Formats: sequence, structure tokens, C-alpha cells
Amino acid sequence: MALLTWNSSYSVKVQKIDDQHHVLFDILNDLHSAMMKGQAQSLTGPILHKLADYTHTHFAAEESLMFAARYPGLAEHKIKHKDLLKQVEDYIIQYDKGEITLNLKLLDFLRDWLTNHIQKVDMAYSECLVMKGIH
Ligand code: FEO
Repeated sequence: MALLTWNSSYSVKVQKIDDQHHVLFDILNDLHSAMMKGQAQSLTGPILHKLADYTHTHFAAEESLMFAARYPGLAEHKIKHKDLLKQVEDYIIQYDKGEITLNLKLLDFLRDWLTNHIQKVDMAYSECLVMKGIH
């Protein structure tokens, strides 16, 4: 059973962004699957780093689309992105030092970290981008 399953409630109606959110879902599902198979350190470390790298790429792409659409909530959204990246990067630093291990609690945190942001913060720009022809 996957940690995350895509459904229409996650769609922001902008294909490029939905595609990138799909990739983030896939990375979290890979992390979950590696943990469930007991493929601890060897796989989970690189997947966690991939999550941070791709999150960085996604946030930059999303901010550039919001800028193109002159979305009024851009500044506030960028602050939320910065906070989210810091949260995940802090976890990775602790993980790399061996201070924490990957467990269901951390995966639940990452799932909520992603889905709450998409459904509450990202969804707020959907109408603005679609109305500006970005979809
Ligand atoms: Fe899709 Fe604001 O991150």
C-alpha cells in the first residue's frame, strides 16, 4: 500500500505543477517502500536527499509561474517554501548524523508536510494562474 495516492483534490489545474507534485508523491512512496522492505540506510539516505533536491527545483519552478501570473500571494508563499525546505533539510542533517532514523512518524510528517501545503497553500494560486492562461 502506497503512502500517498493521487486524487483530484490535489490538482491545482496547472499541468506542469501537477506533474511535479506527482514526482514528489513518487519520491515519498519510494521512501516508504524502501523503509517497509528494510532497505534502511543504503537507500533511504539518497532518497531523502532526492526529496530535498527535487523540492528545491519544484519550489523555484512554482515561484516563477506565480511571478509570471503576478500572483499577489507570491511573497507569502515564498516564505512558506523557505520554512518547508528548512524543515526537511533539518531532518536530513539529523538523519545524516545518525541522530534520527527513518520511521513511520517521520514519513507521516513528510506526507502531511507535502499534502497540507498542496491543498491549502498551493491551491490558493490555482484560479489566478488558470485565469492568466497558465495551465
Ligand atoms: Fe507546490 Fe508551493 O509547492
